Amino acid sequence: MTTNKYNTILITGGAGFIGSHVVRHMVKKYPEVRIVNLDKLTYAGNLENLRDIESEANYVFERVCITDVEATAEVFQRHKPDAVIHLAAESHVDRSIVSPLEFVHTNTIGTANLLNQFKNLWSDVQFQGKLFYQVSTDEVYGSLGPSGYFTEATKYDPRSPYSASKAAADHLVRAYYHTFGMPVVITNCSNNYGSYQFPEKLIPLIINNIRHRKPLPVYGDGSNVRDWLYVTDHVEAIDLVAHQGEIGETYNIGGNNEHQNITIVHTLCDLVDQKLGNAAGTSRALITYVTDRLGHDKRYAIDAAKIKADLGWSPSIDLEEGLSLTVDWYFENDDWLANVTSGAYKEYYKKMYKE
Ligand code: NAD
Ligand code: TYD
Repeated sequence: MTTNKYNTILITGGAGFIGSHVVRHMVKKYPEVRIVNLDKLTYAGNLENLRDIESEANYVFERVCITDVEATAEVFQRHKPDAVIHLAAESHVDRSIVSPLEFVHTNTIGTANLLNQFKNLWSDVQFQGKLFYQVSTDEVYGSLGPSGYFTEATKYDPRSPYSASKAAADHLVRAYYHTFGMPVVITNCSNNYGSYQFPEKLIPLIINNIRHRKPLPVYGDGSNVRDWLYVTDHVEAIDLVAHQGEIGETYNIGGNNEHQNITIVHTLCDLVDQKLGNAAGTSRALITYVTDRLGHDKRYAIDAAKIKADLGWSPSIDLEEGLSLTVDWYFENDDWLANVTSGAYKEYYKKMYKE
């Protein structure tokens, strides 16, 4: 059982997919801790994700860009977070191919700014009992052949603008640990899926397209492999690492759920057909092979032995259960999906925060 050791946890990117699950978990589990959600609300940030907890007494939202030096300094001074869990990022590989500079700006420079803000706040007082937690990706390790796994000792070899910008940020985090003695921890996690994921990523995109009888785009021949983790398992791991992880360490987090993309798409098609009582093969007929992504990494697979041995974490939801829960959620939350795809979700912030 994890017990709290912080007064104020500042979570960046808390209006996004994983961040909103982290915020909800922390707000509910640690009512005595103030949870500050710092998010710019890009296209990927959606406060509707947090509707159920936004009135909780220990929750605060700050609409701030992580690259804005003055605004972040003001928030750090006002809230004095003893822990930062940093998730804010541009997160979609396809977008990073179109706009690499935006990824460097947010993911690399934004992280450098947050590291500075944290250092400015605590270095003169003391770093003892504080934490800067960088939430990163397994994509920094590059691409695997048919065998082998990424361990914490695998050399960084990022191959997309997204993964390169995250790798650079991770290097900066380690540099602040070695140079300034800043208390940091990094986790590198595999592909997440679950509720509230923006429907540009494979799983929600396929569910949404099946729903609307639109083509299901599969890049290349569909044989690329990803290691899938249900988002709440990631959140449990983040909670553990934030409270029990060793300063200066890196932990890999993975689902032990390696599958080719085409297998995931087939499974989703069959699940939906089964749930809707469609004839077998109805949704598979929508599958369309499209031009491959540039530089498409072939395979990711995580060896999560260290976090299991050191902190006792392992995933609790297998792929079959996780995909079924996810399909149910997207089918039951039509409004959320419709608001996201129409852009109406942007109005929610204006209504709630009177901008
Ligand atoms: P997401 O795209 O759903 O959410 C990102 C959030 O960051 C949004 O709320 C957005 O508004 C906010 N944001 C973006 N730029 C910002 C800025 N300049 N200032 C403040 N806020 C900003 O992302 P996600 O999938 O939830 O990923 C969260 C983190 O986890 C990222 O750091 C990502 O690299 C990492 N990660 C994601 C996965 C995955 O499968 N999704 C896997 C491993 C690691
Ligand atoms: P994605 O969800 O974008 O995550 P990442 O690129 O960070 O792993 O993509 C997961 C896999 O699915 C990846 O190999 C690319 C592939 N893919 C498709 O085949 N079609 C799609 O429409 C998308 C978005 C992804």
